[in-house]
Amino acid sequence: MQISVIGCGYLGAVHAASMAELGHDVVGIDVDEAKVAVLSAGRAPFHEPGFDELLERNVSAGRLRFSTDFADVAGARVHFIGVGTPQQAGSYAADLSQVNGAVASLLPHLAPTADGPAVVVGKSTVPVGTAAGIAAQVEARGGVLVWNPEFLREGFAVQDTISPDRMVYGLPTDPDAAETARAALDEVYDNLINDQAIPRLLTDYATAELVKVAANSFLATKISFINAMAELCEATGADVTQLAAAIGHDDRIGHKFLRAGVGFGGGCLPKDIRAFMARAEELGVDEALGFLREVDSINDRRRDHVITLATDLLGGQPAGKKVAVLGASFKPDTDDMRNSPALDIAHRLNAAGAHVVVTDPQAGPILATQNHHDFTIADTPEQAITGADLTLLLTEWRHFRDLDPAAIADLPHQRAIIDGRNVLDPQQWRTAGWTYHAMGRP
Ligand code: UDX
Repeated sequence: MQISVIGCGYLGAVHAASMAELGHDVVGIDVDEAKVAVLSAGRAPFHEPGFDELLERNVSAGRLRFSTDFADVAGARVHFIGVGTPQQAGSYAADLSQVNGAVASLLPHLAPTADGPAVVVGKSTVPVGTAAGIAAQVEARGGVLVWNPEFLREGFAVQDTISPDRMVYGLPTDPDAAETARAALDEVYDNLINDQAIPRLLTDYATAELVKVAANSFLATKISFINAMAELCEATGADVTQLAAAIGHDDRIGHKFLRAGVGFGGGCLPKDIRAFMARAEELGVDEALGFLREVDSINDRRRDHVITLATDLLGGQPAGKKVAVLGASFKPDTDDMRNSPALDIAHRLNAAGAHVVVTDPQAGPILATQNHHDFTIADTPEQAITGADLTLLLTEWRHFRDLDPAAIADLPHQRAIIDGRNVLDPQQWRTAGWTYHAMGRP
């Protein structure tokens, strides 16, 4: 099938390449010329495991191309919208300018094909009610809209796109339009439905929109729940990792997303819970999501806690002290630094006068090209730790977890480490002469 994907960021570019991998003929459209040039050369503009190979293979097979010109969607039956919906400056609400811009630019090019009317598929995370507004515009052009939220995790984006755990189709109320949309999307996802038997849920627009934000709110709540327990553990001398392991054995609770640490970040969870609260307020049901305010505050407090602990360990005065920060991306296996707890803490300690040295295997080289950071970037953890008064592990990259505390014991000025992700072996670090501090652990 001929397909277009509007927006070539973390979501859209991976979606475009994954659809080509399924055998479709795909054009990815983005307004960013530099990004389109890199993608057209078969290179990934960001770090995502498995994406380079997928892109290279499909661009060279001629199934995948990229363009800045919306006219290049001509001939496509299905048009995916995968642009960003960041938090608005000065508000909790989502900034829908990219979605509105994508729809406005796409509409003049919508045309039926021999197989039926054009089908527009919304994948961006939007406030509930957005799809209904877009549907009216698409229908006025003879097309059909379906809302098909994306649940991919960065670091697993390719796997989550080609083999998701579920698919949700938010369909129009008109039965004929719904059938057209369902049939077109079933053809796109034929491999997922028929070969992989991935569950597919048919809903209305509002439910599909809510599924995405409800899922992210639940995940954020789970993380903040365990981080709240970490606060209790800190006040009582208990160990949150043991507590999480024990409650996780109850399958109704489960072990996943119960890792206490510096809290959640990234381009999704923080802005999605805020946009959800803003939308609930508009709908007059803000009380229903009052708990998300707590989820957000607990998350913020983890960053504050690390700053307080670091300041205490630096004798109450960070000014002039050298602090090594291991990690800048919001989680491992990505170079994405949007709302990264690690980067935020690095900035704040630097602003308090510490000499902060940051190292990150993928985000580090990007930081080094940006000139608005006033901390130092080191290529390796060993370089960052050399001469440090305090070391902070804030993103759990494998090669930070594998550091041998004995082998690096002579590098720092003070052998003191804060394990912001509870991933190091306390005994091993203490035996090697380090003062080891974790999150919610004695
Ligand atoms: C998330 C959702 O998982 C995904 O389904 C949605 O489509 C987009 O948002 P992502 O932002 O890639 O994906 O990251 P995720 O793996 O969910 O982690 C989010 C944040 O929570 C990270 O900062 C991570 O470090 C943190 N986290 C996760 C914890 O602090 N503890 C945990 O137990 C799990």
